[in-house]
Amino acid sequence: MDAISVIRTKRDRGELTPEQIDWVIDAYTRGEVADEQMSALAMAILLNGMNRTEIARWTAAMIASGERMNFDALSRPTTDKHSTGGVGDKITLPLAPLVAACGAAVPQLSGRGLGHTGGTLDKLESIPGWRAHLSNEEMLTVLDTTGAVICAAGDGLAPADKKLYALRDVTGTVEAIPLIASSIMSKKIAEGTGALVLDVKVGSGAFMKTIEDARELASTMVALGTDSGVRTVALLTDMSTPLGLTAGNALEVRESVEVLAGGGPQDVIDLTLALAREMLDAAGLKDADPEKALSDGSAMDVWRRMISAQGGDPDATLPTAREQHVVTAPASGVLTRLDAYDVGVAAWRLGAGRARKEDPVQAGAGIELHAKPGDTVTAGQPLMTLHTDTPEKFDYALKALPEAYDIAPAGTSFSALPVVRERIA
Ligand code: URA
Repeated sequence: MDAISVIRTKRDRGELTPEQIDWVIDAYTRGEVADEQMSALAMAILLNGMNRTEIARWTAAMIASGERMNFDALSRPTTDKHSTGGVGDKITLPLAPLVAACGAAVPQLSGRGLGHTGGTLDKLESIPGWRAHLSNEEMLTVLDTTGAVICAAGDGLAPADKKLYALRDVTGTVEAIPLIASSIMSKKIAEGTGALVLDVKVGSGAFMKTIEDARELASTMVALGTDSGVRTVALLTDMSTPLGLTAGNALEVRESVEVLAGGGPQDVIDLTLALAREMLDAAGLKDADPEKALSDGSAMDVWRRMISAQGGDPDATLPTAREQHVVTAPASGVLTRLDAYDVGVAAWRLGAGRARKEDPVQAGAGIELHAKPGDTVTAGQPLMTLHTDTPEKFDYALKALPEAYDIAPAGTSFSALPVVRERIA
């Protein structure tokens, strides 16, 4: 077997054989296939696709490149959620403790933000003392004692994906549906969860800009999970506008705690509850009542225990940025559009995100929204507040915003897209 013949097969629109796939993933992980050869293959896959048989084998080969975790010793059923990433998507923070409070175990291996989308680990790291990196034993202990754990995936889990994802990131090959599906599902299947709910985002702030692409990604992932014995469901959810009223690390933690305290923006509450119901259903806990667990404080109790178990202080004051800049409404009327991608880029430019994996993020940086689509605004009222420690970033961030919103004359009718657009099982 050699890399050139594998690349040629896909370049010429052929179907990769199981042997070719097993070999190329293993040889790439061991360093025998070079980065430039894997880049060529990734680009051929982006351009010419893979069929379902190839995707399933590719995913299995990535799982086989590392260890598989096992939660059989736990007394509770395991259930997990994965979001394909969006702007203001802090849902994992209230969701994991909420589902744990309803009787499931939630092993949530999360990532960092890259580009305009935020990452759960960056958000939680704004809590003083909180640690993202746990050994497998520590992870199991937190999961067993609190019911939920949110941490970084260990190096042993799907190492082929770690290497390939970093390569795709710098070769313009992230957006291939077969590669996204196999990347996400190899980690989730290796993680060993019994049930999985996929939150596939669709809209300007998501990887998938159209509902057709989101459907294709969701159904590919549901088939991969189901065929591997993981009960898998996908919700296609709106990412044309940011979720909630904040985008940025500490700002999003603050909003998540508001939701756990019984308040918070309605779209965040609605999506948290919709995903919680799916996760509990998939785990066989059909009688659980997540709405009650949110209102009676039991989800907040799990949150506090989970944060403390990972070294964090749930009562600590969260960091705030040193400088603020307010953007005001240029006219009166109805806010009919607030673009998720533009807001995400502006938050990223303020210091909430990173351009390279090794860059630091500012805990307090980001954007606070004072109006959402459908709201009536008056000329001069604050539309959003930009936060950063480095005020020289304001100009660059503001350049992302002139086309970010539309204000229509007062009385213009407006109908919002539902947060959950479709369900695929
Ligand atoms: N998230 C992943 O883990 N992998 C991808 O390819 C895209 C998003």
